[in-house]
Amino acid sequence: MLAIVAGALDPQGPVAESMATLWWLMLALGLVVFVVVIVVLLLGLFRRRIPPDPRSDGPASSRLGRMIVVGGVVMPVVVVSAVFAATVVAMRDVARDAPPDALIVEVVGHQWWWEIRYPDEGVITANEIHIPVGRPVAFSLTSADVIHSFWAPALGGKMDLLPDGVNTLVLEADVPGVHRTECAEFCGLHHALMELTVVAEPADQFAAWVAGQSAPAVAPTSGVTQRGQQLLVDGECAKCHTVRGTAAEGADGPDLTHLASRSEIGAGAAENTSDDLREWITDPHRFKNDVEMPATELSDADVQAIVAYLESLE
Ligand code: CUA
Repeated sequence: MLAIVAGALDPQGPVAESMATLWWLMLALGLVVFVVVIVVLLLGLFRRRIPPDPRSDGPASSRLGRMIVVGGVVMPVVVVSAVFAATVVAMRDVARDAPPDALIVEVVGHQWWWEIRYPDEGVITANEIHIPVGRPVAFSLTSADVIHSFWAPALGGKMDLLPDGVNTLVLEADVPGVHRTECAEFCGLHHALMELTVVAEPADQFAAWVAGQSAPAVAPTSGVTQRGQQLLVDGECAKCHTVRGTAAEGADGPDLTHLASRSEIGAGAAENTSDDLREWITDPHRFKNDVEMPATELSDADVQAIVAYLESLE
């Protein structure tokens, strides 16, 4: 989590840049005020004491009055006004409207995974967002159940995903990079197991990714993958999962059409390896004990066939 938060001070896009600049300005002003207060405090503690003259209304008390006006009124007004002006500038950068050429990415929060849709490209995936470097991205955020929160600190943010509305957040990546992040709003038992990966990549790599993801699933070629597909399509899996190009059209769980292209499963709860896939299908509650997906009653050989099929879904 620390590494994720630290990303806010390693900005990789204009919105994060603006927020980091504001943060450094506030730190610098806070440090200056802190040092001045400590110096005045030390001077007061260690200077030679002169017994006060109760009849005097002379230079000493008028100097004290000036110090109170400067230190107690003028300085706070200057500092707070500077922070206010800088905040207004940063807010304008953070809450900008989506330009016409922005890539639209719809993100739907679920307990506990992320549904990702690219409506103009015909891409549906989960838990992993790819964006092209140098092009504004309009994230259209909503939730299927409770409030979640989207936050990719190195790119800027954060913004809530609400069940009864759509929030829009416009971000842009200046450089390629892989940003691992987490849901930023407590959303139930597995809030901490709701990871999201944002991959910023050059435009040609992004175009290649879109071309792959928008295609239907590849047809199984071997006997075991054909059997895996049949088990998936005819069995319980298809009630919740979609594999585009097959009769599996369930909508409650993540789209599996290109599962093998993703780095993790279960929103970061497990690796996308044969062993973890097999264990996840056998009993996902070992990884996330309150997840909606039930344990399977399939034989080991059938689970193995489904794993082989899923691993072919590049
Ligand atoms: Cu979703 Cu916390």
